Amino acid sequence: MSAMECAIYTDGACSGNPGPGGWGAVIIAGESVKEISGSEEITTNQRMELRAAVEALRSIPPDSKVKLHSDSAYLVNCFNQGWMERWQKNGWFNSKGNPVENQDLWKQLLELTGLNRVEWIKVKGHGTEQFNQRCDLLARSAIGDGGTADCKKRLKADLNHKTVGKGDRQVCRLGVLTGGGDCPGLNAVIRAVVKGASYNYDIEVVGFNNGFKGLVENDAALIDDFAVSGILNRGGTILGTSNRDNPFDYRPNSSDYRKTGEDRSADALESLNKWEIDCLVVIGGDGSLLLAHRFSELGVPIIGIPKTIDNDLRATDITFGFDSAVTTATEAIDKIHTTAESHHRVMVVEVMGRHAGWIALQAGMAGGGDIILIPELPFEYSCIAEKIEERRRRGKKFSIIVVAEGAYPAGEEPLYQLRGEVKRLGGIGQLISREIENLTEMESRATVLGHLQRGGSPTSFDRVLATRFGVKAVELFQAGRFNEMVCLRGNKIESAPLKEAVAGTKLVDPNSEQVRTAMAVGTSFGCHL
Ligand code: F6P
Repeated sequence: MSAMECAIYTDGACSGNPGPGGWGAVIIAGESVKEISGSEEITTNQRMELRAAVEALRSIPPDSKVKLHSDSAYLVNCFNQGWMERWQKNGWFNSKGNPVENQDLWKQLLELTGLNRVEWIKVKGHGTEQFNQRCDLLARSAIGDGGTADCKKRLKADLNHKTVGKGDRQVCRLGVLTGGGDCPGLNAVIRAVVKGASYNYDIEVVGFNNGFKGLVENDAALIDDFAVSGILNRGGTILGTSNRDNPFDYRPNSSDYRKTGEDRSADALESLNKWEIDCLVVIGGDGSLLLAHRFSELGVPIIGIPKTIDNDLRATDITFGFDSAVTTATEAIDKIHTTAESHHRVMVVEVMGRHAGWIALQAGMAGGGDIILIPELPFEYSCIAEKIEERRRRGKKFSIIVVAEGAYPAGEEPLYQLRGEVKRLGGIGQLISREIENLTEMESRATVLGHLQRGGSPTSFDRVLATRFGVKAVELFQAGRFNEMVCLRGNKIESAPLKEAVAGTKLVDPNSEQVRTAMAVGTSFGCHL
């Protein structure tokens, strides 16, 4: 046979994944239409997609000019996004360091594409295109699954599917990234977005790795139901995160804030374009959501999901991650209590929270802290000493002080630790401990809880909140509501304009019922209220 110009359509199908699977291909050259198909006993859908392409290319003469149509974004992206080159360069390991699956087929495909001039074209999913529908039937017939009923059902579902975003593509794509400091519950949200999208709407999800860095550097992959199995209770984020890669002021691999960054937002937009993302879901705190807002101003449809242990985001009553951090801090305070009591000491526990006192207030109350110091109420050392003395007079020979890292004495500024040019809040606990020894003759020790508060499993509250947030984000997308952030109000999951969420920091109201309640049970805030 001599070289030719042809169009190839391919599809794979599996009953169960892994399970018996089939593949089908239609090869059209001029007036001639050839159909081929085959099956494997125990296989995966992805492997069948690959098999279909390999067998179809093998059935044409070398040097052919081929337009290869597939509904598998994975397959098409592998060539169009340069994954294959990266895998080859990395010795067939993917970006997560795992060996690439189905290497035998990828390698055959690589060789066959080298022999021909192949253009990869992504078509609408689930056999909605005439020839792909035919391939779907061929693949199903190959495993004895007549296919027709199921295929028709899916075709109908696809046609009823509400299209959102650009073009007439019917399988929509959500991009998702986790930005800023990590916190328990991130994986639960990713899982909810992927499951909510694929179970209910047949929407694909692309995960960008390491926050906005993955967007700038086009480091991403499709994440499916399997990728999110078993991560509900896992701390951290399977996507990785970063709290310093600002695409508008980009300084890769450098935390040196003296360096001038580059505006790489155009690269980020290009990545979104390459992946045909209809909407970007940004799971982040104020920094990441501010960046998301900037992208929304550049025309990117955005949905925000509020994350931070600090709970300092406006427009939501609670962010996920907060409850887990408070639980960790409370457990620590409980432990500090017993040793404080044994040694008759003043124990200072420094918690995170940046410029908001939510963690200190919540954990301080839950752990029975005698003195709670928050940035919203600058303290006086004399007041702290007075409270300790008062307790001593009443026979309480120990005291617990819970201090937010951003708390500071009246008339002064929050305390920062300097590393090069980078400033980080911290150190106030030590300072208070020393001052207490000077003022009260009591022994004192300070404990900084630090990143313990961001680690470990999410509490059940955070798992549920994260799941509700993730599913709501998908619903907002389906409804075509962009540039909003999902939020919790009372016990209802709602949404608010992104603009509102990033308009400032949510601080503790010193006159709130919660502060007054703490005072009503004798807690001091280290100042005269
Ligand atoms: O915003 C979350 C948070 O944990 C703050 O409470 C804390 O000040 C900061 O991040 C610490 O950031 P890093 O991980 O860069 O030390």
